[in-house]
Amino acid sequence: MEDLEELLANNREWSEEVRSQNPSFFEELSEQQSPRYLWIGCSDSRVPANQIVGLAPGELFVHRNVANIASPTDLNCLAVLQFAVDVLQVRHVIVCGHYGCGGVQAVLDDMRLGLVDHWVRHVHDVARVHRAQLAGLDDRQARFNRLCELNVIEQVRNVAQSTVVVDAWSRGADLAVHGWIYGLENGLLRDLGIRVGSAAEVDAAYEAAIDTEVRARGS
Ligand code: CO
Repeated sequence: MEDLEELLANNREWSEEVRSQNPSFFEELSEQQSPRYLWIGCSDSRVPANQIVGLAPGELFVHRNVANIASPTDLNCLAVLQFAVDVLQVRHVIVCGHYGCGGVQAVLDDMRLGLVDHWVRHVHDVARVHRAQLAGLDDRQARFNRLCELNVIEQVRNVAQSTVVVDAWSRGADLAVHGWIYGLENGLLRDLGIRVGSAAEVDAAYEAAIDTEVRARGS
């Protein structure tokens, strides 16, 4: 219980701090939100979306789940995507994975964790598609890192091929989908070199992202 009281006290302090900088901050924000970005990231507590990109409340629309999956059958993710693209009219969708992801590790090590095993079947699919590339890597750590990256690239493709994004592009919307990965050990984001701004670019951007990463490793 003490823990929770501390959180509420922190909240009062934070609210006061924000208002001391800008007395009408919350008032203005309560009227409307107009974020430019949708973030699809992992639930991992070490990857707090707003904080690592330095964005304030109101600036980032966020969807997080275990292993940053954007499955074409996940109504939750699709609803967030649809609302962000059609209603809020965000300009960028950022799929952000992270190295050391527990959901990816569970797949790599074939761990049994419970219900979440079903969820990370999506990552199993990624590993299966890219099994030759993964098998070609020297050690477990390299395979782990690479599967974290490949998972992001695959989810970018899922977002780019969703009806929501395809329809937005066909209406001429200015919308791009990006793939980034975060390093727990240094707090830095890395662009995985996949940026898709139209339906016609999806395949080439996907192939290039995979090839670029392979070349970067000299393999
Ligand atoms: Co994770």
